[in-house]
Amino acid sequence: MAASDKPTVLIPGPVEFDDAVLGAMSHPSESHVGGAFVNIFGETLSLLRKLFISEDPSAQPLVVSGSGTLGWDFVAANLIEPKEDVLVLHTGYFADSFASCIATYGGVPTQLKNPAGVGSRPTYEQIEQALKEKKYKAITITHTDTSTGVLNDIKAISEVVRRVSPETLIVVDGVCSVGCEEIRFDDWGLDCVVTASQKAIGVPAGLSICYLSGRAVRTFEERKTAPGSYFASFANWLPIMRNYEAKKPSYFATPSPQLVRALHTSLLQILSIPLEERFAAHKTASQKVKNAIAELGLKQLAQDPSQAANGMTAVYFPEGVTAQDVLPKLLGRGVVFAGGLHKEIATKYFRFGHMGVSVMNKDLGHIDKGINALKEALSESGYNGPK
Ligand SMILES: Cc1ncc(COP(=O)(O)O)c(C=O)c1O
Repeated sequence: MAASDKPTVLIPGPVEFDDAVLGAMSHPSESHVGGAFVNIFGETLSLLRKLFISEDPSAQPLVVSGSGTLGWDFVAANLIEPKEDVLVLHTGYFADSFASCIATYGGVPTQLKNPAGVGSRPTYEQIEQALKEKKYKAITITHTDTSTGVLNDIKAISEVVRRVSPETLIVVDGVCSVGCEEIRFDDWGLDCVVTASQKAIGVPAGLSICYLSGRAVRTFEERKTAPGSYFASFANWLPIMRNYEAKKPSYFATPSPQLVRALHTSLLQILSIPLEERFAAHKTASQKVKNAIAELGLKQLAQDPSQAANGMTAVYFPEGVTAQDVLPKLLGRGVVFAGGLHKEIATKYFRFGHMGVSVMNKDLGHIDKGINALKEALSESGYNGPK
């Protein structure tokens, strides 16, 4: 397909990819323990420290072949021991999955929900109360819940946890937030952020990225039981990551040199401007989308606009309009949006992803293209805005 015929992918991941990142994927085959690749991998790990705004030498980045889901296995297999309690903040689909993963390894997840339902998030009072009632080994927070577009305030939650239950590990699912939402790993006292390559980091799917505090590493090292996974065990990966960062060849399970090179290229691009500018650009693009949604008289899933994500927007269809109507009409206009995912209301809404190159390279015109296509597709479906 000619590049000009390719539809613009505006889903909450995978996102559109920069040409230089795709170019890095076509690097000829090389040894994963050869000097050239070891250097690139080592630099990539050091660049991740900058992405997480972290200078603590005891913190540890990991890059492993896999998708975002592998991050949950990392947490459940390594940081939590069987029968230990974990408080899972629920904002939608991804909390259910994280909780299932924790239970798979014998941990005991308790989901905390706001009774206001879909589009809400647990309040600080609820979190404080829950932490006072029971001792939790870890709390997990989905930063941006990709099923609802609800954003959690990691800094504020971290303050509550450190005040009420300082020994509880703070674990963030940043699959839909790292690279577009502010995360200050050291300053906010986080213990683990898991993410993946294909969203705001702007690299094709296939890399699971995890960032650990020194405390999280120690928690793993002091485990009384062996991790219940072989591939996901930190016992296998920590020495490899340390070696790569020290530019020493090392092997446990073959990495993908092409994907790691793509990540290296993307991180260099991301870090070529201050991260604050990147976060601000995502806020501006997000506001533009959300204003257009409001002008169209449509409602976001996020009940409180100040709790909405900046990398995506989840929107209810208007009365009488369905995904089967609108999504093909959008595709006819060269735009791909995602349908709903939250199981209670999956058919009732759609998701518009605005992350990465589609936001940072304004010349591409992706955001305007998405908004215009949406207006036209709704109009063709008989909906022309508020009466
Ligand atoms: C918030 C969140 N967590 C975890 C995942 C799982 O990631 P993956 O599909 O890459 O395994 C996703 C996927 O979209 C996600 O959005």
